[in-house]
Amino acid sequence: MAEKLVVTLMVVYFFMVNAKADTTIGNFNQDFNITWGDGRGKMLNNGQLLTLSLDNYSGSGFQSKNPYLFGKMDMQLKLVPGNSAGTVTSFYLSSDGSNHDELDFEFLGNLSGDPYILQTNVFVQGQGNREQKFYLWFDPTKDFHTYSILWNPETIIFFVDQTPIRQFKNLESYNVPFPNKQPMWIKSSLWDGSNWATRGGLVKIDWTQAPFTASYRNFVAQVCQKSSSCSNKSWITESLDSSSEGKMKWVQKNYMIYNYCTDAKRFPEGLPVECKYT
Ligand SMILES: *[C@@H]1O[C@H](CO)[C@@H](O)[C@H](O)[C@H]1NC(C)=O
Ligand SMILES: *[C@@H]1O[C@H](CO)[C@@H](O)[C@H](O)[C@H]1NC(C)=O
Ligand SMILES: *[C@@H]1O[C@H](CO)[C@@H](O)[C@H](O)[C@H]1NC(C)=O
Ligand SMILES: *[C@@H]1O[C@H](CO)[C@@H](O)[C@H](O)[C@H]1NC(C)=O
Repeated sequence: MAEKLVVTLMVVYFFMVNAKADTTIGNFNQDFNITWGDGRGKMLNNGQLLTLSLDNYSGSGFQSKNPYLFGKMDMQLKLVPGNSAGTVTSFYLSSDGSNHDELDFEFLGNLSGDPYILQTNVFVQGQGNREQKFYLWFDPTKDFHTYSILWNPETIIFFVDQTPIRQFKNLESYNVPFPNKQPMWIKSSLWDGSNWATRGGLVKIDWTQAPFTASYRNFVAQVCQKSSSCSNKSWITESLDSSSEGKMKWVQKNYMIYNYCTDAKRFPEGLPVECKYT
């Protein structure tokens, strides 16, 4: 009897310890704080839905309560409808400090009926300049769609509705730095990007349309707080198979409208090294 109890307690303890190190999170109330915007960010339905708003005084934002080292996360977003020109809605991962790492989804709004741009970027040790921009194959303001980031020691993959659109592989063996030392926070914000977002800043926010509101729901993530604790999880070694790689190439061929890797003018000393291998 006592032995059984001890075993049970050991099993419970094992799960508790493991749960701390490697866990699935997925509730806005439990896992996130609204960090700025003075009431413009709201958690609704017991943490199942979150909305961010922007008006002529302020935008708003939220971030995870904990930082993570590697993870696989899905967020559903419904973007600002109608005339969203000049607004930027983001979902990203970022560490702290000047040599920070950052993985970005940024949605650049537009006039009614004109297409949003999805801008992605990868910063490693403070160095970004790796933009890739896409049009989407649907209207991102009509319904929720799923935007995902897989970040493991071997690769970073951005997905839209489970279709991979971009990959940044670990090329440390070619001296390309890779984010694998600094834990990152999960963050989101809605803000005024009038000076650059829409047609390069030509179209500004029309404040008569304010407040602008974007919605977030069905957040789900598998995350680690220490890399060693995740060594047995299947996503930690996940990579693209040839069929997924084909889909990614298809999206890039048909929907990518800017790629830093083909912008030779911007890099007179030569394109970044990773461009040779992607
Ligand atoms: C913001 O908009 C409100 C309502 O349109 C207006 O009354 C106010 O003056 C504006 N404030 C600023 C700082 O632009
Ligand atoms: C989240 O909010 C709690 C309670 O207000 C606070 O103690 C904590 O420091 C906050 N964490 C972050 C990352 O903002
Ligand atoms: C907005 O619409 C214009 C005209 O169709 C297009 O050139 C631009 O790429 C669109 N998106 C953004 C964010 O500027
Ligand atoms: C991984 O799984 C193996 C076998 O299932 C186990 O022996 C090992 O302790 C596990 N490692 C971690 C870090 O959980």
